[in-house]
Amino acid sequence: MASRSGPGAAEILIGRHDISRRVHELAAQLQADLATAAGPPILVGVLKGSTLFLSDLVRAMDIDVAVDFMSISSYRSTVAQPGSVRIIKDLDSDVTGRDVVIVEDIVDTGLTLNYLRQTILQRGPRSVRAVTLLNKSVRRIVPVPLEYVGFDAPDVFVVGYGLDFQGNYRNVPDIIAVRDVARLVENPRLLVGPLFLGD
Ligand code: PRP
Repeated sequence: MASRSGPGAAEILIGRHDISRRVHELAAQLQADLATAAGPPILVGVLKGSTLFLSDLVRAMDIDVAVDFMSISSYRSTVAQPGSVRIIKDLDSDVTGRDVVIVEDIVDTGLTLNYLRQTILQRGPRSVRAVTLLNKSVRRIVPVPLEYVGFDAPDVFVVGYGLDFQGNYRNVPDIIAVRDVARLVENPRLLVGPLFLGD
C-alpha cells in the first residue's frame, strides 16, 4: 500500500484501478442476473456515500435501468435508539412489481441496509437485492442479506470514493485507510493536503 500522508497516517487500501475493475465485474454480474427483470430494474442509491459507486456502476451496464435515491437519518448517531431512524428522502418511484437493487458504498453494522430492505419489501417489489462496494462484516450487528460484494473490508476507518469524514474526502478517487483516526478527529481536514496533492 502506498503511503499518502507520511508513515502510518493514511494509505491507499484499494486503488482506483482495482475499484474500476471490480465495479465492472459487479455490473456484469448484476446485468446477467437482471436479464429476466420485469422492465428496467430500479437501482436505489443510499445518500450520500453511494453516489460515486452508483454512477460508475450504471455506466458499466448496458441495459436500461432506472435510478432513484433514499436517505435516512444516520444510524451512527442513533445506535442507542435504533427505533428513532427516519426517512429524510424517500424514493420518487413506485417499486410495486419492480426489481430493486439497493446500492451501498459500505455495509457496516447492517442497520441501514436492514431498515431500507424492510422498508422497500413492504411496498411489494418483484425482487430486492443489495450490492455494496465494501463489506465490513466484522462490525455486523444485524445479519442482512447482501447479494453482491465488491471487497471485504478490514476493520479500519476508510474515506474516499464516496466515503467521508465529516463531509470531507468523498471525491478522493481511491479508498484510503486512515490509521490515525484520533488525529483526524482533532483536525477533520488533516488529510486534505496529502490526499489531494497528486499521486
Ligand atoms: C454510511 C454508508 C451506509 C451506512 C452503513 O452512511 O453509506 O449507508 O453508513 O452503516 P451501517 O451498516 O452501520 O448502517 P452514513 O450514515 O455515514 O451517511 P453518508 O452516506 O451520507 O456518509
